[in-house]
Amino acid sequence: MRTNALAHHWMPFTANRAFLAQPRLLVRAEGMHYWSHDGRRILDGASGLFCCAAGHSRSEITRAVARQLEELEYVPHFQFGHPNSFELSARLARLTPDDLDHLFFCNSGSEAVDTALKIAMAYHWARGEGQRVRFVSRERAYHGVNIGGTSLSGIMRNREAFAAVLPEVVHLRSTVGGHPRFVRGQPEQGAELADDLQRFCDLYGGHTIAACFVEPIAGSTGVLVPPQGYLQRLREICDRHGILLVFDEVICGFGRTGRAFGADSFGVVPDLMTMAKALTNGAQPMGAVAVREAVWQAIAGKAPPDTIELFHGYTFSAHPAATAAALAALDIYEREGLFERAAALAPAFLDRMFALAELPVVTDVRGYGLLAAFDLAPEGVGGARGYRCLQRLYEKGLLIKWTGDTGIVAPPLIAEESHIEEIGEILRQTLAAL
Ligand SMILES: Cc1ncc(COP(=O)(O)O)c(C=O)c1O
Repeated sequence: MRTNALAHHWMPFTANRAFLAQPRLLVRAEGMHYWSHDGRRILDGASGLFCCAAGHSRSEITRAVARQLEELEYVPHFQFGHPNSFELSARLARLTPDDLDHLFFCNSGSEAVDTALKIAMAYHWARGEGQRVRFVSRERAYHGVNIGGTSLSGIMRNREAFAAVLPEVVHLRSTVGGHPRFVRGQPEQGAELADDLQRFCDLYGGHTIAACFVEPIAGSTGVLVPPQGYLQRLREICDRHGILLVFDEVICGFGRTGRAFGADSFGVVPDLMTMAKALTNGAQPMGAVAVREAVWQAIAGKAPPDTIELFHGYTFSAHPAATAAALAALDIYEREGLFERAAALAPAFLDRMFALAELPVVTDVRGYGLLAAFDLAPEGVGGARGYRCLQRLYEKGLLIKWTGDTGIVAPPLIAEESHIEEIGEILRQTLAAL
């Protein structure tokens, strides 16, 4: 392969120059595995990028997308519609908790986050509370890469080059740091960190805050599981001050925590919920925001009849091929009981992940459901050891997600215990040899 033929694609979140020197191209996938361009089988320990919950190349989804494209490849969704999107909305409304019954579609998690920001602004404006210009996020949060999500981001490297973000964002402290390490599931301590939100209300006035965004489990920065009672306390403070609570379920959604959504696992209902990734099992780009009845009513009620309620939308909102993929993915999740399967597999998975704690190079392990992370002691520049580990694991036939020196493991929900064993064993051997 002539590697310079690869030089034109500026790859996202990639060390492009290092990649060109040593490309890792994936050319085929099926079930739990990818195949590399040099013919090796790679076990997928990350569901692609938290997307392929039902495993790879599911023919039911492929066929549904192909049928849809043959019949009708595109519909303008401004003032027109297609039956798929209504069916999908109804299915999602049944799946989401309580009265999160209105679905707005977009094409990614980042767009879902920016859509949720705008819905929060429109909601307060519709109710005559346009003074709520402030948003609350959290240190170590990841909410995608559009300007709204970048503003909410709690990761320095994702912000430092982009000064022109939304100015009125304040960050809660992260729930990890200073607390016991190697905690399996929800930490017992730390609910009081939610009181940072009350402090912001005391400092700025709760009536100036529009919404508080959190991932139920902060995924991309290393599986930061919420302390017991933490999300409940955020909910209470939001309710006291009329602040919308937004759960970014882009990673947690669709069974990762052993229930449909993190909201279900942790027993807290947000006002808005973002989703993407496993919504289509990764087979088509798609994101969505689920909106509670009262939020929808406030926005719709403000607009005169026969007028547009929300001046927002994307050319590819509810694309027929994406809705077909999502409907087929939901069928598989339901038919194969994959959310329940994730719950059943979680103890064996977490046993394997927490066994890594014995290795001297591992400084922390965290996990919940089929989602776990381990931190490596840094060596030299932060992230260098993680990157080396990514390469070695790839050579040994395992793909996981890396954020700096933190490895994140999130296998497809179809995994067998033998796959979990294999992931654990490759990790153990590789980390032991670092
Ligand atoms: C919680 C969360 N929100 C938003 C996003 C952004 O999603 P996308 O990459 O589809 O834009 C991600 C991606 O990992 C995520 O984890």
